[in-house]
Amino acid sequence: MKTIIEPFRIKSVEPLHHTTRQERERYLAEAGYNLFLIEARHILIDLLTDSGTSAMSTEQWAALMRGDESYAGSESFFRLQRVAGDLTGFRHIIPAHQGRAAERILFTVMCKPGHVVPSNTHFDTTRANIEFTGARAVDLPIPEAADTQARLDFKGNMDVAALESLIAAEGARNIPLAMLTVTNNSGGGQPVSLANIEAVKSVCAAHGIPFYLDACRFAENAWLIHQREPGYADWTPKRIAQKMFSFADGCTFSAKKDAFANIGGLLCTNDDQVAQLETNLLILTEGFPTYGGLAGRDLEAIAVGLEEILDPDYLRYRIISTGYLGRHIADHGVPIVEPPGGHAIYIDAARMLPHIPAEQFPGQALAVELYRHAGIRSVEIGTLMFGAAAQHELLRLAIPRRVYTQSHIDYVVEAILEVNARKHEIRGLEIVEAPPFLRHFSARFRPL
Ligand code: F0G
Repeated sequence: MKTIIEPFRIKSVEPLHHTTRQERERYLAEAGYNLFLIEARHILIDLLTDSGTSAMSTEQWAALMRGDESYAGSESFFRLQRVAGDLTGFRHIIPAHQGRAAERILFTVMCKPGHVVPSNTHFDTTRANIEFTGARAVDLPIPEAADTQARLDFKGNMDVAALESLIAAEGARNIPLAMLTVTNNSGGGQPVSLANIEAVKSVCAAHGIPFYLDACRFAENAWLIHQREPGYADWTPKRIAQKMFSFADGCTFSAKKDAFANIGGLLCTNDDQVAQLETNLLILTEGFPTYGGLAGRDLEAIAVGLEEILDPDYLRYRIISTGYLGRHIADHGVPIVEPPGGHAIYIDAARMLPHIPAEQFPGQALAVELYRHAGIRSVEIGTLMFGAAAQHELLRLAIPRRVYTQSHIDYVVEAILEVNARKHEIRGLEIVEAPPFLRHFSARFRPL
């Protein structure tokens, strides 16, 4: 059979709400043209993020009832510790309420003003949490990633020569850790190869620099290695993931992505001293180390999700369905970051809307138009999100896990192609108010 089907059936449904174009025009004006400020009930198809938006399975819902809500020594924690320990091999598994909480604790412990933290590409919260400590976040993607149209298997890789130059220029003493984000979210959801992970690890090890994975989408990365990297076609996704983690000294992880959970995160390390400092901070703001800001039932959902996510049938469907959206718009003239990656399709808004300069936020202008036209919510990843550090002007269409069916995606394709047909009419935006950091969440705009 050629047809790929969703490898699940639906037991519980949520109604979707249609709105009229007139209503959407009003909601946009009220929200200052920032889609984060629109009420979710006014969204028809929500592709804002794949984070915390997954549909949980029957096994996960059943596990919630098993949640041990003890303040200290919860059985749910030990279950999660066993699953995450078996997967990652890390000695210390520290729960946190989400990925950025793990990041804040890690960087507070490791970073000082003057430090530099390289990555293939830092995500927005990662960059902001590093900069908040006074350290500098540096992106070192491979040069080929600058061309959104280049079709490389592992476009999420780090430029290893650039890492070596950075270490020579800054001094290893000033680099408290190096990171690889798998998959590379801000870089187009592109995977990182095992060869690149190994190469980055060996450069770091030679200079005594701890090497961390930002492992949010580790399973999608593992599947893309299985598909694309020679030598791994016969490996299970779990074995590949284990090998990925085996090179790292620690990781941050948002369970809101590749653990199908609606909340949660992990901070892992092999360093006993670092773990001690981290748990001290954890207790201060997140909670006791056997719950870390989560309910026992959340720990259960994560433990089950971490195993489910590595199911080859799920991962095959996941990557093929993301590619389905990508090919159906790209083959009809909409420029996307090629090739389609794991969790999202990224439209190259600078290429699609060359008449809108970066200062007028082409990605945001496109996001607003797609909502106005069809009630679809997406997110800008470009100058609005990253300021001068932006590598591209992208519009991300993130696909929640196990939530939308092929007909929902067909609707999205139709809407994008209709917007593309009259793209010359789209105008840019100007910021009228914005906070000092992570401005994309709450800035307000005026259409030009
Ligand atoms: N690292 C990466 C690569 C991420 O994509 C995210 C979140 C985080 C860290 C932070 O995790 O949200 O649990 O605090 N990304 C979401 C997104 C928000 O839409 O891509 P968190």
